[in-house]
Amino acid sequence: MINPSKQDQVLIFDTTLRDGEQSPGATMSHSEKLEIAGLLDDMGVDSSEAGFPIASGGDFNAVTEIAKLAKTSVICGLSRANYKDIDRCWEAVKHAKRPRIHTFIGTSPLHREIPNLTMDEMADRIHDTVTHARNLCDNVQWSPMDATRTEDDYLCRVIEIAIKAGATTINIPDTVGYTAPRESVDLIKMLIEKVPGADEVTFATHCHNDLGMATANALAAVAGGARQIECTINGLGERAGNTALEEVVMALKVRNDIMPWHTGIDTTKIMNLSRRVATVSGFQVQYNKAIVGKNAFAHESGIHQDGMLKNAETFEIMRPEDIGLAESSLPLGKHSGRAALRAKLGDLGYELADNQLKDVFVRFKALADRKKEVFDEDLIALMTDESTNAANDTLQVKFLRVICGTEAPQSADLTLTIGGKDHQVTAQGDGPVDATFNAVKKLFPHEAGLQLYQVHAVTEGTDAQATVSVRMEENGKIVVGQSADTDTVVASAKAYVNALNKLLVRREKTAPEAEP
Ligand code: KIV
Ligand code: ZN
Repeated sequence: MINPSKQDQVLIFDTTLRDGEQSPGATMSHSEKLEIAGLLDDMGVDSSEAGFPIASGGDFNAVTEIAKLAKTSVICGLSRANYKDIDRCWEAVKHAKRPRIHTFIGTSPLHREIPNLTMDEMADRIHDTVTHARNLCDNVQWSPMDATRTEDDYLCRVIEIAIKAGATTINIPDTVGYTAPRESVDLIKMLIEKVPGADEVTFATHCHNDLGMATANALAAVAGGARQIECTINGLGERAGNTALEEVVMALKVRNDIMPWHTGIDTTKIMNLSRRVATVSGFQVQYNKAIVGKNAFAHESGIHQDGMLKNAETFEIMRPEDIGLAESSLPLGKHSGRAALRAKLGDLGYELADNQLKDVFVRFKALADRKKEVFDEDLIALMTDESTNAANDTLQVKFLRVICGTEAPQSADLTLTIGGKDHQVTAQGDGPVDATFNAVKKLFPHEAGLQLYQVHAVTEGTDAQATVSVRMEENGKIVVGQSADTDTVVASAKAYVNALNKLLVRREKTAPEAEP
């Protein structure tokens, strides 16, 4: 067997649907998770961590369905270090062509205090749980959570136990984003040198971005011998997020001269996945985000524009096409046909089945009637709205009419479909949006508090579509709803209802305590 740390391929382990979705407010619906998992599989990720099956019925079902649908990638589920979690995880991932159980326990002094185990007791628990997982599945990943703050000797000891018990991948999490590149190289090197059996397993790196070093730390770990990078699209994840998939993949591609490792990722699919994840998670990508930010390929200053016109390489180290960013072309209009719409959506990364195209075409025509020119950004907003407001959502906006203007009171006349039944109400408020939100609350009473209400114009002009984001909080659970429409109040109502639909999903998610 070739020592994995000597191979020149770096495996990409995506955890957008697990660590990414764990980020407060990033809850995705069942259908959204399935869609993202399919896109990740098509893009060529080696493994996809599809969820935490014991956390909720919803997570269990999503991991099960994703496992059934995956074509090539390994489908992994997360479990704590107890038999109940591991069994539930196996029940979900076993349907995959290539299933994996990922089990973890916090090994640093602070984390050891939580289950109140001595070092020896924890070592025994690791032995028992990894053995149990390996009896179910021949592909087992084990993680010592907070590895970068665990004593070296103890880390070596527990990794050796996990390897002997049958773990095939050892993941080294920098759970709180504490490490730095030099330390990251040294840690992986030290583990591979010192731990017996280390050359027979793959070492993985799992970095968080609390100090803005997640990408650098992950690449440093590869230099030290790690051959799996755990990452998420757009760097989504708890607190400051995880290593961004697009950053490590493009860094390895662009600087292959000094980082001679390759991945199996089709980089032309990056931009579409980034947009889809931004949409379904409700976490917009910052404009100056590396690789996928709106400004990542924009050249505003005169000197830069002049240089770009003469030779693009003057200021560009990679081409927009490398990440699937099509050059913006002519806008569509009300005379554009279905074929033109299909072609344009294809350029933007949306491949639609005939029946989906039929629905989208109806909405496109309605938009083109209201807007003279339909730009790429309009179509992305339209597709966003198409997916965030799904036909099977519990709550749906059916009808809205508002009265607003200088004379108070402003009022909203709203019909919501709740669980398939129509309910109508009229409510007043301080302005049309407040009246609309009050109407939603009357029809669907809830205690969730509105934390943020944001409106963005998609393009220029008074006929522009508005995208609205609404962030809500209920008992510490945060959700973000989104919608787009040329009518800002309609977009607001739909975004609010989208957030409530996500809250219904979120209410389910509470992992029960379990002992081995
Ligand atoms: O950050 C972390 O430690 C994790 C583990 C569960 C792998 O996400
Ligand atoms: Zn993590």
